[in-house]
Amino acid sequence: MTESTGESGGAPGGREPLVVLTDVEKYFGDLHVLQKINLSIGRGEVVVVIGPSGSGKSTLCRAINRLETIESGTITIDGVPLPEEGKGLARLRADVGMVFQQFNLFAHKTILENVTLGPTKVRKVPAAEARQRGMELLKRVGVDSQAEKFPAQLSGGQQQRVAIARALAMNPKVILFDEPTSALDPEMVNEVLDVMVDLARQGMTMVVVTHEMGFARKAANRVVFMSDGQIVEESDPDTFFTNPTSDRARDFLSKILTH
Ligand SMILES: Nc1ncnc2c1ncn2[C@@H]1O[C@H](COP(=O)(O)OP(=O)(O)OP(=O)(O)O)[C@@H](O)[C@H]1O
Ligand SMILES: [Mg+2]
Repeated sequence: MTESTGESGGAPGGREPLVVLTDVEKYFGDLHVLQKINLSIGRGEVVVVIGPSGSGKSTLCRAINRLETIESGTITIDGVPLPEEGKGLARLRADVGMVFQQFNLFAHKTILENVTLGPTKVRKVPAAEARQRGMELLKRVGVDSQAEKFPAQLSGGQQQRVAIARALAMNPKVILFDEPTSALDPEMVNEVLDVMVDLARQGMTMVVVTHEMGFARKAANRVVFMSDGQIVEESDPDTFFTNPTSDRARDFLSKILTH
């Protein structure tokens, strides 16, 4: 049984905190999109973020690698506060992988080039070494036979697996997934989720925005439910899905479960 840690800022299960958000506030104009967010993600922990459209899930992810600025509060990665800009920010971004709904691969680069670009440009890994590691990662996600093709020649599920390999190529400390399967045809969802479940089992720290309950039950240590810019509830997946405590979570679950 995992305890709720909403107030404490300490990671659950005795894990060492890796990503820590403290009193984070974010506005878009008058819209208060992140309200007093306190969340601590432990090393090796898998946190699923779930909630209605517009509740701030993407903004939360984007704040963690500073694609969005915040008005107040602090975010630290492995004990280091998010740098404002410059080299420190580039270094931090390299530690935080991101996988988006729309795979965002470079259309004019091959699959292998997509995976080797970050390591060679940002991490200054020698080209031959980056290619070797790139091929290993493509193999790990099951698309090594596609290495010399371009993204448009791959299925959505294959492209998303390449995007995961690209994130892994930077040896990130944590990977953020923002609805990684919601742009996929249904038959391709599982091939991507299987890769993510494997990653979770291998101890990768992951923040996953998804409504895929199967994934949450299989791989998540904790489910965080957001509504209207707030973390309303957090618990282990079984408790959340079978016995949510807040009205908002119950209402939300009744809607997604009756699809
Ligand atoms: N760049 C922006 N400028 C202004 N408002 C924005 C911007 N990005 C997001 N918002 C608003 O902030 C709120 C939170 O958006 P966010 O994308 O984080 O929600 P979400 O939980 O990811 O929703 P969804 O499930 O639809 O992806 C929404 O009301 C959205 O319209
Ligand atoms: Mg979103």
